[in-house]
Amino acid sequence: MERKVAIFRKEHFNAAHRLYVPGWTDEQNLEQFGKCSNPHYHGHNYELIVKVTGTPDPKTGYVINLSVLSSLIRAQVLDRFDHKNLNLDTKEFASLNPTAENIVLVIYDILRAQLDPSLDLSVRLYETDRNFVEYPA
Ligand code: NI
Repeated sequence: MERKVAIFRKEHFNAAHRLYVPGWTDEQNLEQFGKCSNPHYHGHNYELIVKVTGTPDPKTGYVINLSVLSSLIRAQVLDRFDHKNLNLDTKEFASLNPTAENIVLVIYDILRAQLDPSLDLSVRLYETDRNFVEYPA
């Protein structure tokens, strides 16, 4: 019987954002999004945990080479978002509210497109120590 194993890679990036609904007043956005609606943006230290699940290769014993996975995350996610203003500097969030929910979906889609279809993918994103999201749910 082939047994699946999950392999995890933890990464980190810093980014600024502002959560708001265009057309709402600053007061309405503050009411909905709290400090995250600050019109002058603010930063978060995002922790990213990428989980890849698959059957270890009979020859190498690897589900995926971690150095390959690490390079993939760096090139596709960290280089794209680290030290960026998500609203202003990225096309992904030019018109998409950069909530943790939307960020995890964007990162999932980016990585999913690069991974072998035989591998399962799950992404967890911490916006703070206590607030985090995961996709698939
Ligand atoms: Ni925020």
